[in-house]
Amino acid sequence: MRIGILGATGAVGEQMLKVMEERGIDCELRLFASQRSLGRTASYMGRDVELRVISDEGLRGLDYLLGAAEADVSRALLPQIQESGAVYIDNSSAFRLDPDVPLVIPQINGGDTLNHKGVVANPNCSTIITYMALAPIHRLSPLRTLVASTYQAVSGAGKAGLQELETQVDALRTGAAFTPAVFPKQIAYNCIAQIGGFDPEGYTSEEMKMQNEGRKILHAPDLKVTCTCVRVPVFRSHSISATFTTEGHISVEEAENAISASEGVVLMKDDVASPLDTSDQDLVYVSRVRRDLTSDNGLTLWCCGDQIRKGAATNAVEIMEYLMKH
Ligand SMILES: NC(=O)c1ccc[n+]([C@@H]2O[C@H](COP(=O)([O-])OP(=O)(O)OC[C@H]3O[C@@H](n4cnc5c(N)ncnc54)[C@H](OP(=O)(O)O)[C@@H]3O)[C@@H](O)[C@H]2O)c1
Repeated sequence: MRIGILGATGAVGEQMLKVMEERGIDCELRLFASQRSLGRTASYMGRDVELRVISDEGLRGLDYLLGAAEADVSRALLPQIQESGAVYIDNSSAFRLDPDVPLVIPQINGGDTLNHKGVVANPNCSTIITYMALAPIHRLSPLRTLVASTYQAVSGAGKAGLQELETQVDALRTGAAFTPAVFPKQIAYNCIAQIGGFDPEGYTSEEMKMQNEGRKILHAPDLKVTCTCVRVPVFRSHSISATFTTEGHISVEEAENAISASEGVVLMKDDVASPLDTSDQDLVYVSRVRRDLTSDNGLTLWCCGDQIRKGAATNAVEIMEYLMKH
């Protein structure tokens, strides 16, 4: 088996290496990044693997390429990747809504993976965490509407986002000057209700993913979603408040039982899940399932999950494992 990782030096790429190693995926591994990383190595299963830039030769013979680069890089490299015959499992937003590209959370719509034409897309990180929590309820009665507010960690913006929070915290402690670069405002001791650019209706690109990607994953084209995405000064793990209605009535107990029985999700009934509880692991934690006081067939809940792992790297590795198995 020959596996490549594109963007292997980034927040998601490094985590892919870790997840693959944990799962004992023994393979010939090829690591790709930008020119900046040439000369560096990364360790995999006790071996040093050198970083290289993508080339026809580097891609030759690869079975799978896991993508962890930005959308523009992914788009630019796609023809070369497709030429190589490797199945490309991409974490960027480049191809998620392409009708020829399955958008997959294996625990929800793993079967869609098999319809791929060379590319499978990994959904947005908040979208994965939210629908991991909601899919068990959707299976009881279809979701109709969702109002979601996200509390997104700085590492969602990659290594540079992590560094910006650290730098600002240090600068505020020492009195040094700083200028926000990754985020539109100071993120230390603040929260910013803008992730991505605004559309003419005032929604951000990140917010619309919750509806557009959710519809595709759940096969629910009529699902209506209003979402507000907020960046918070948390290093890792996104949290989401989700209030939703279903076609039929679902009691709190039925919802909790469905969540408890679902693979990859944990009902944290006697505690309130927080990012620190859910960092550096693969499960999505759900707390505070309760009746929605504004509707008859509505519930509301709180969920948290590590967006670099289940929201990105782990989900991509699981897609690859699904393909290997089937
Ligand atoms: N962070 C998250 O929580 C998260 C969650 C879900 C999805 N995603 C998506 O996953 C992707 C990676 O995000 P990230 O957070 O890991 O970003 P990141 O930390 O900024 O890492 C970006 C990676 O892309 C590489 N790269 C940059 N330009 C390249 C080029 N021209 N050719 C090849 N490689 C290039 C970088 O290599 P160098 O080190 O050499 O520059 C680095 O390895 C993005 O599309 C992001 O939207 C991220």
